[in-house]
Amino acid sequence: MTRPLFTPCTLGRIELKNRFVMAPLTRSRAGAGNVPQPLAALYYGQRASTGLIVAEATQVSATAQGYVSTPGVHSAEQVAGWRLATDAVHAAGGRIFLQLWHVGRISHTEFQPGGALPVAPSAVKAEGKVYTSKGFEDMPEPRALDLDEIPGIVESFRAAALNAIAAGFDGVEVHAANGYLLDQFLRDGANRRSDGYGGGIANRARLVLEVMAAIADAIGADRTGIRISPINSFNDLTDSDPQALFDHLVAGLAGKGYAYLHAIEGDMTGKDSRPFDWRRLRERFGGVYIANLGYDAVRADAALADGHADLIAFGKPFIANPDFVLRTLLGAPLAELDGDTLYTPGAHGYTDYPVLAGI
Ligand code: PHB
Repeated sequence: MTRPLFTPCTLGRIELKNRFVMAPLTRSRAGAGNVPQPLAALYYGQRASTGLIVAEATQVSATAQGYVSTPGVHSAEQVAGWRLATDAVHAAGGRIFLQLWHVGRISHTEFQPGGALPVAPSAVKAEGKVYTSKGFEDMPEPRALDLDEIPGIVESFRAAALNAIAAGFDGVEVHAANGYLLDQFLRDGANRRSDGYGGGIANRARLVLEVMAAIADAIGADRTGIRISPINSFNDLTDSDPQALFDHLVAGLAGKGYAYLHAIEGDMTGKDSRPFDWRRLRERFGGVYIANLGYDAVRADAALADGHADLIAFGKPFIANPDFVLRTLLGAPLAELDGDTLYTPGAHGYTDYPVLAGI
């Protein structure tokens, strides 16, 4: 019997050769000017046997950064750097989207133009540390965005999406998950605004829906996906009623032809164990649903077979196993990742994980 993971899937205007998705993974290998390096092309090209790669979270603007050596997609040099990666993946028969990212309050003055405060929906500080050139430092209290700055945020996502297409990506994934800027607007743990972008659920969902619509208008809804994490308390973010909030958000996304809905189905920190109805989200959305969080191949096949999801995103296995798809097919053992080289410069722990020998 054919295992569902190894069956093709249509995603908007492209065909995926299997139902494996490589999840976006921060690797902190960008060079000066946050430019993706040729090594990133090798890294992604090595992993092109997956149906879809979602390339790592990538800044839509200079203020969108919160980590050392993460790439951007807002300068000509960055677009040229990304072109090497998309060419490598396409030459190897793969498909690749880019995750568009604004960190909001999960940042530090060190990363901000002119040493300014990071921006957020409200001046509510996240508990936690940020890794700067001086080591781990507290995150500062952010500056609340003025109402008249919000169109500029939407525009930065729209422009970044156009740049991603110019760089050869097959589409983009809007990062509305994991406690970053768009998620800070969505969830009431960080959004205390009293204007049209805060308060009730419809107001908190407004910015995400505007960003999605602006990108769809620029590059096509069928090349525009979104990632959400309704009950993830990572980055000190929670919500008082996530089911109602995300039911509303997904109803607003439904019927517009968006490429996919990608959900992190739980709490990466393990703290929030509230029940959540993922199937309802999928049904409401009505399009391709990507499930993520700790799946192995057995659970993935089961989730695909029983209609829980259309595609499964795997993160960690792809770091140490460039041939994760083949290893899964053969039932071969998986290599363990080296946690010490996740964010260190250079090829070691990045492009030097071996493929299976002797086949
Ligand atoms: C990280 O760099 O740790 C990171 C980035 C994006 C995420 C989650 C974690 O969505």
